[in-house]
Amino acid sequence: MLIDVVSIFPEYLSALDVSLLGRAQQRGLLEVRRHDLREGATDVHRTVDDSPYGGGPGMVMTAEPWRLALERVLAGGGPAPAPRLILPTPAGRPFTQELAHELSGEAWLAFACGRYEGIDGRVVEHARKTMVVDEISLGDYVLAGGEAAVLVIVEAVARLLPGVLGNTASHEDDSFSHGLLEGPSYTRPPSWQGLDVPPVLLSGDHAGISRWRRDEALRRTARLRPDLLVGPFDQRDLAVLAEAGFEPPSVGVAQ
Ligand code: 6GU
Repeated sequence: MLIDVVSIFPEYLSALDVSLLGRAQQRGLLEVRRHDLREGATDVHRTVDDSPYGGGPGMVMTAEPWRLALERVLAGGGPAPAPRLILPTPAGRPFTQELAHELSGEAWLAFACGRYEGIDGRVVEHARKTMVVDEISLGDYVLAGGEAAVLVIVEAVARLLPGVLGNTASHEDDSFSHGLLEGPSYTRPPSWQGLDVPPVLLSGDHAGISRWRRDEALRRTARLRPDLLVGPFDQRDLAVLAEAGFEPPSVGVAQ
């Protein structure tokens, strides 16, 4: 996968060269190209923002440096006629594991990191003439710029690429992949500081272990994210949920 990132702080993205993603780049599974938005600034101060039409606080990123930056991205070439363009913004659609999976199927992504009060609205409109564009939000809070969001989105997407994780099965159990929060995990020693690993995990009873893990996932989800509990539930699920104080809806009951 090829990833282009445009930012006024390209060095902010150096975290992508470390750890799992750094290794993925070294192994040729991922290539990240960084671009400085200010290369397209024409004045001596390399200005890329201006005050908003209609008034209001803050500054807006001007359109022309963005047009030039996206032209540099396209001129760099890639595995498709154009990248899918992602604009991180608190005004975007929610980033989810499902969207991470969808993006991991793309050969080429580009990210436009906004700062200040955002980017002139015509930039998205103009980009949509030649690219698929998604405005994506990490959640209901406001970051100072898109760079931290790009680190999050790229890590969530790249770990799904074939070969990036050592064990290809290890993301199939992730929280959200089965619609529930994952319960706790344990490793040696079996007893530590007076705390014992749940005995079923040492039993070799694989059906019992699967059932225990599902029970723990149901309890945790009922406690922290009841909005995710949509079923279908079997009778055992319903018993575990009832004990956790969760009142299940009357529909979606499986045998
Ligand atoms: Cl993707 N960008 C910014 N700037 N703030 C955010 C966000 C993204 N998601 C939540 N807050």
